[in-house]
Order: sequence, then C-alpha cells, then structure tokens
Amino acid sequence: MVVTQFDISYANARTRVIVAPGSLELIGSALSGLVTPTKTLVVSDETVAALYARATIETLHEAGFETDLLALPPGDATKSLASASLIYDRMSHLQLSRDGLVVALGGGMVSDLAGFAAATWMRGVPVALCPTTVEADIDACIGGKTAINHPAGKNLIGAFHQPVLVNIDPLCLRTLEHRDVVAGMGESIKHAAIADEPFLTWHENHRERVLANDPEAMVELVVRNVRIKANVVSRDERERTPVRASLNFGHTIGHAIEAAHSYALRHGECVALGMVAAGRICVAMSLLRQEACDRLIRCIASYGLPTRLERPPDTDDLRSYMARDKKAAAGRVRFTLLDGLGATVLCDNVPEPVVREAIESLGR
Ligand SMILES: NC(=O)c1ccc[n+]([C@@H]2O[C@H](COP(=O)([O-])OP(=O)(O)OC[C@H]3O[C@@H](n4cnc5c(N)ncnc54)[C@H](O)[C@@H]3O)[C@@H](O)[C@H]2O)c1
Ligand SMILES: [Zn+2]
Repeated sequence: MVVTQFDISYANARTRVIVAPGSLELIGSALSGLVTPTKTLVVSDETVAALYARATIETLHEAGFETDLLALPPGDATKSLASASLIYDRMSHLQLSRDGLVVALGGGMVSDLAGFAAATWMRGVPVALCPTTVEADIDACIGGKTAINHPAGKNLIGAFHQPVLVNIDPLCLRTLEHRDVVAGMGESIKHAAIADEPFLTWHENHRERVLANDPEAMVELVVRNVRIKANVVSRDERERTPVRASLNFGHTIGHAIEAAHSYALRHGECVALGMVAAGRICVAMSLLRQEACDRLIRCIASYGLPTRLERPPDTDDLRSYMARDKKAAAGRVRFTLLDGLGATVLCDNVPEPVVREAIESLGR
C-alpha cells in the first residue's frame, strides 16, 4: 500500500494527514502513535456505519481503544443542536473525559457535527476524522471548522477545533453515489482555479480516471486538494484575515442558489454554477481572459456538473440571499474573483448590472 503522510502545523495544534487506499483498516495503529489509547466514541451516519463501522471499530479495538458507536440518520437535517445533544448524552453515559477521543466516520455532515460535539464537550476533546465523501476528503476535513445548523441558517453555530488525525481512505468512495462524486469535484475544480493552474490541466487530463474512481487518480486528487486547502487555512487558521476568503470563489452566488432551491441541489453543484457566474464577472471586470473563463466552464461541464439553471433565475431573490450571507461585509457583497487562473482577488465594488448579468446568464 502506498501511503502519503504529512503533518499540517497550526499555531497551537498539529494535524496528521494520511491518504492511502485501505487506510481505514489501519486507523487504530495510526491513532495509537498520536494519542494514548482511551475511551472512544465513533460518530457516523446510518448509511456509512452500515458499510464501514465494523472495520473501524475492529482496528480501534485491536489498538486498545475502548470503542462505542453512535450512528445518526443521514442527511444535513441531522447537523442540529438536537443531534449534538444526543452525542453529549452518549459521552456522558460513557463517562468520556477530556482524555477521551471522538472519531467522525462519514461525510462533511458527520465531521462537522461530531467535530462540534468534540470541540464543546468538556471544552474540547481530541477528534479524528475518517472522511468518506469527496467533499469531506478534499474540503470539510481540513481546516478545523466545525458546525451545526440553526433554523435561521446553515452552519450558524460552530467552533474551530483541529483534528489530531485526518485518515483518508479513497476506497471508501467506491460506494458513494456517482452524483456525490461529481458534486465533490466542484470544490476540486475550485481549488485548482484559485491556486494551481497546472492542477486544472490535471483535471482536464484525468477526467475519465476520476469519474471511474480509479484509486491511484483519487489519491493524487485528494493529496493535491488537501495541500492547497491546508496551505490556505494554516495561514489564516481562525478566518481573521482575507487569506481564507480565496476559498469562497463561486460560493457567493453558489450559496444563494443553494438556499433559493431549498437545498435540493448538492452544494458542489451550486458551487459549479456560482463559479460559472463568478468567472463571467471576472471577464467583465477585466480580471480574466474570455478564453480562460471558457476553459474553466468547459472543465466544470466535462465532469457532469451543471453550468446553467433549468429555469431562469429569480435575480432579485438571489440578490437578497446574497445580502444575507454571513460573509457579506457590512451589507456589501464581497466577491472572491480570479485574478487570472490560479490567483484570487477580493472585490466589493462589482457594479450591480455586472452581478445581475452574470446571474441571468445562468438561465440562458
Ligand atoms: N467544515 C468545513 O470546512 C466544511 C466544508 C465543506 C462542507 N462542509 C459541510 O459538509 C456537509 C456536506 O458534506 P457531504 O457532501 O460529505 O455530505 P454528507 O455527509 O451528508 O454525505 C452525503 C451522503 O452520502 C452518504 N455517504 C457518505 N459517505 C458514503 C460512502 N462512502 N458510501 C456511500 N454513501 C456515503 C451519506 O450517508 C449521505 O447520505 C455540509 O453539512 C457542509 O456544510 C463543511
Ligand atoms: Zn464549498
């Protein structure tokens, strides 16, 4: 087994990252090198638990971790205060103390929720993440953001809490629905667009292998994405400077589309649409050449991601969602735009007609 292993260093924390096909069956030994074997709560969703909990618990037991499992219903509705409360109940029952451990086994829903519970139980117990979706492998498990949803909005309650270990086993992606694999590629293309133009070429050249879930291609895909995101977040661990805002490319309009469709579309699909619109804004602002924008849109489409909406968008509606976005600075919509492929610039003075034209172009 070829194992890629590296550490991400933060001001007060360090995260070990392991990427290898089959690595899920070895997390016990990976963890025992990082923490003393202890009481451990594995949190998962029912779909993922049915597939991978047994192997996870076995390897933890073998390494001396006293392990219990809590599997919650799949879906983002589970990312709630009520679910966090169920996790706290189980932690209390297990008498999980500060030297206990939480293992999140699943997609971004699970890592956000279990990470939040770990961040807040006794003001913080260690957490290890075993992501099982493309979205979680390349985005949600890196950077230490944890969150639950509130009726007033998504991810409104949260904490920063860096995991001790992120154990990525790309073989877990073989059971993932194809639509979820494709959706995750929205974030991957975003990483290439904001920070690594040669990685965009890689996407163009590896489409068939990625969409066929070829393990070698998936390892390279994951490692390159993790390095890009880790490089950004380690320079701005708590999102206090504009550095981390580069990750927001495609998300301003993307989030609005997601909310306007009542979250019926995948996040990555909305990011894809958001990148198409933002790319056109970049061209209108003379930040990106038309050919570069066309290339980005072609790459997005080639992965089966949407580049247009089925119905013409309600522009006023989307504008009002954008104004409510928690990243809007003092009521102004701030766009992360491409300054050529591979670089970004923050812009809070995009003229209104340019924004509207970009949104409306998605309906044509
Ligand atoms: N913290 C962050 O920085 C960050 C970044 C991006 C996204 N997120 C969050 O991540 C969540 C979305 O993550 P997601 O797309 O992974 O969704 P998800 O965790 O809801 O998983 C999607 C679906 O796939 C199923 N599934 C997961 N792994 C599987 C596997 N290997 N085989 C078969 N089925 C599997 C799940 O049961 C679920 O039904 C959102 O809540 C979002 O807010 C957080
Ligand atoms: Zn995203």
